[in-house]
Amino acid sequence: MPLVPMRQILDEAAKGGYGVGAFNVNNMEQIQAIMEAANDTNSPVIIQASRGALKYSKLIYLKKLMEAAVEEYPQIPVCMHLDHGNSVETCMEAIQLGFTSVMIDGSLAEDGKTPNSYEANVAITKKVAEIAHMFGVTVEGELGCLGGIEDGHGAGLSDKEVQDHLTDPKQAEEFVALTGLDALAVAIGTSHGAYKSGRIDPVTGEVLPPTLAMDRIREIHTLMPNCHMVMHGSSSVPKELVDVINQYGGKMPGTFGIPVANIQDGIRHGVRKINVDTDSRLAITGAIRKVFFETPGKFDPRDYLKPAREAAYKVYVDRMNAFGQAGHAGDYKPMTLAAAAKLYK
Ligand code: G3H
Ligand code: 13P
Ligand code: ZN
Repeated sequence: MPLVPMRQILDEAAKGGYGVGAFNVNNMEQIQAIMEAANDTNSPVIIQASRGALKYSKLIYLKKLMEAAVEEYPQIPVCMHLDHGNSVETCMEAIQLGFTSVMIDGSLAEDGKTPNSYEANVAITKKVAEIAHMFGVTVEGELGCLGGIEDGHGAGLSDKEVQDHLTDPKQAEEFVALTGLDALAVAIGTSHGAYKSGRIDPVTGEVLPPTLAMDRIREIHTLMPNCHMVMHGSSSVPKELVDVINQYGGKMPGTFGIPVANIQDGIRHGVRKINVDTDSRLAITGAIRKVFFETPGKFDPRDYLKPAREAAYKVYVDRMNAFGQAGHAGDYKPMTLAAAAKLYK
């Protein structure tokens, strides 16, 4: 199957009432693990690359790896998506490279840190949508700001500030109408990375679950039942993965993720794309640490990258089953970008 526009994957997910994991990649092992998981669970899949990933792996290498994935598994619908594009130029570059979907994150200024004005967000998102749709490429936009500043992403908002930057459902309705985007990333209190909660119990010192505004998702879904919502920062940061890291010499105290049950609740109310990066990073790091710790004499990268790939595979299989995309790869015929472009006209 050729690469398909993300819009088709999300439209089909809406029809089937399930969500689709969008997994971040930086290298061959992650791409292979995702594709093996998609093949074994018969899942459509979204593979996404951040600007950091494109810089790390160099554009052309990721493009070719994704093409290899599509060639190896022709029966799996795959979308190649740009995660957190920060400018019209970055999105154009991805489109020219063959990406079938781009995110323009106009919630933040081009530096990827400063919260943008609503007007500036509308303007840049609309512009990217106009250009991308001419090529049949799907567009994701974001309204509201995520919490945290993990990995240099986000505005570094405190827990309290996050509550002031949640997506406003009424404004979301206007934003979607003004911009013509295909998928809306919502801010409901999640953040990137492994430390999704700034809340500590003052008595026990224990990390408390992050406050999630799931009601915003329900409100947006009521206002716009056909709007495909995206949950960023949706790694679950499973304790067992963090435990492996800590057991073999790592130091990651106080982690906290988004429970899968919350994501499933979101899926019941219009969330169609779920962004997961951190869980794969945790699985890979734990597996590599274990090999280094238990067999310090090993120095062939295959000795630790193979278990790393297997650990990531397990995460992807779990998420594909939990989000409901498993079993749906064969539900539809691939749509070409040219056909998608016609639909936008
Ligand atoms: O957007 C956040 C993703 O986890 C990507 O992070 O920029 O470090 O690749 P990255
Ligand atoms: P996590 O850090 O929770 O995996 O989120 C990834 C993400 O939102 C990428 O855009
Ligand atoms: Zn994100």
